[in-house]
Amino acid sequence: MARKKFIAGNWKMNLNAAGSVALAAGLAKEAASLGAVDLAVCPPFVYIPQVAAALSGSAIGVGAQDMFYENDGAFTGEVSGAMLKDVGCRYVILGHSERRHVIGESDELINRKIVKALADGLDVIFCVGELLAERDGGVTNDVVARQVTIGLSGVSGEQMARVTVAYEPVWAIGTGRTATPQQAQDVHAMTRGLLNTLYGQAVADATRIQYGGSVKASNAAELLNQADVDGALVGGASLKVADFVGIIQGAM
Ligand code: 13P
Repeated sequence: MARKKFIAGNWKMNLNAAGSVALAAGLAKEAASLGAVDLAVCPPFVYIPQVAAALSGSAIGVGAQDMFYENDGAFTGEVSGAMLKDVGCRYVILGHSERRHVIGESDELINRKIVKALADGLDVIFCVGELLAERDGGVTNDVVARQVTIGLSGVSGEQMARVTVAYEPVWAIGTGRTATPQQAQDVHAMTRGLLNTLYGQAVADATRIQYGGSVKASNAAELLNQADVDGALVGGASLKVADFVGIIQGAM
């Protein structure tokens, strides 16, 4: 089944207001020639309104890097899905490895956020991936299967149309050490098989699974050529227009 590729930039905790707007404006200029793929950028919360303004009229969607599972109230420091919609977000990244392993988020917490984000009308980029010790210990598939199964608990097959899974091996994030195309394909195929078990073949076939972890223009095409690699979630190389456009061209 042909799935339209989806390339998203995760800006993480980088840039400032001027740099965010300049990057968004630069991408907006290129977007018209890149329509063969779906595109999104995920700036830090505080720059979302300005980035959304710079991208308005372009086909590039805006996403946040996290959200909380309550609507409003006494949750100091948190941001709700309704707030993200209010400032122009279509997407939210949930379960990113830095949220899991630096901040300490559990599968159960990530699941609550995913369920709420979908109820709030956001599209979810749901990240999973194993640590180096887990890969070396031969438990990659077990870890990713657990993360997917718990993370999607209570998510309906219909809602899965608004979920993208992002496989990001933790040892490949920001390290310059990319998974080989075969390593990526193997985990993506396993994940799609699990989605088939959980939701049936139509959902498994339609769900896009991005790869993330040191994706750059020079390795994007071979990763994205794999049968079950439907896009990329890009960190460092999404911070410069030329680098990000090079990856997108690799997907086309
Ligand atoms: P890098 O592309 O910098 O390795 O980051 C990947 C990532 O974590 C995207 O969410």
